[in-house]
Amino acid sequence: MDLLDAMQTMNACRYYKPDPVADDLLVKVLNAARWAATGSNKQPVSLIAVRDAAKRRALHDLYQPIWDSVMQKYASGEFKSGFTPSFLQHVDHFAKHIAEVPVLVVVCAEWRELTALDANLGRTVLTPGSSIYPAVQNLMLAARNEGLGTTLTTLLALAEPQVKALLDIPEHLATAAVVMLGWPAKPFPAKLKRKPLDTMAFLDSYGAPLPGAGACL
Ligand SMILES: Cc1cc2nc3c(=O)[nH]c(=O)nc-3n(C[C@H](O)[C@H](O)[C@H](O)COP(=O)(O)O)c2cc1C
Repeated sequence: MDLLDAMQTMNACRYYKPDPVADDLLVKVLNAARWAATGSNKQPVSLIAVRDAAKRRALHDLYQPIWDSVMQKYASGEFKSGFTPSFLQHVDHFAKHIAEVPVLVVVCAEWRELTALDANLGRTVLTPGSSIYPAVQNLMLAARNEGLGTTLTTLLALAEPQVKALLDIPEHLATAAVVMLGWPAKPFPAKLKRKPLDTMAFLDSYGAPLPGAGACL
């Protein structure tokens, strides 16, 4: 499919069919991750496609209490968000059904190979993830191209030791994300909801208008 179409319609899939993802498709999608750029071409990313039902159930059982506590914080107002109640319902349904998603792709990273260039700037560190998430995006776009749905999740970082034990992940690897992968039970959106370009892209200085950005749909 057209690349921009794929980008504009690749939503976080919240409803999956139970149908399996064939071996050749799984390989094709995971293979796309390999071509992503990484700092100094160190290629620190590895992927575990979890299909085993007991392991998917175990990952769900680790995920659910984390999500429940997040949901509780939204409900109490401790976490602020613009999420509507119906959006949260979809995400809640997703959390409850993670074990039924046919493939959970656990994204691992050789954490010693990741450079935190911005570690001393007194803010959230950003740069280490830059050698990981391009591969994740490649995987997800390749899935979209095949008509497969994906959801990028990071909440299981809060259970990294348990995830590592479950999947025999060695000490030198960290878990960076779990990407849910399967056939979507609902149609892809016609176009994702995102901020207008002229509110987030500028020319030469921050805040200076980029010609044509306002007309960009
Ligand atoms: C870095 C990152 C982490 C995310 N972590 C989670 C997660 O742990 N659980 C979850 O349900 N969704 C997670 N999401 C999905 C986002 O909620 C979703 O991408 C966002 O709401 C936009 O949805 P849309 O692309 O369908 O518009 C994550 C997305 C990103 C990019």
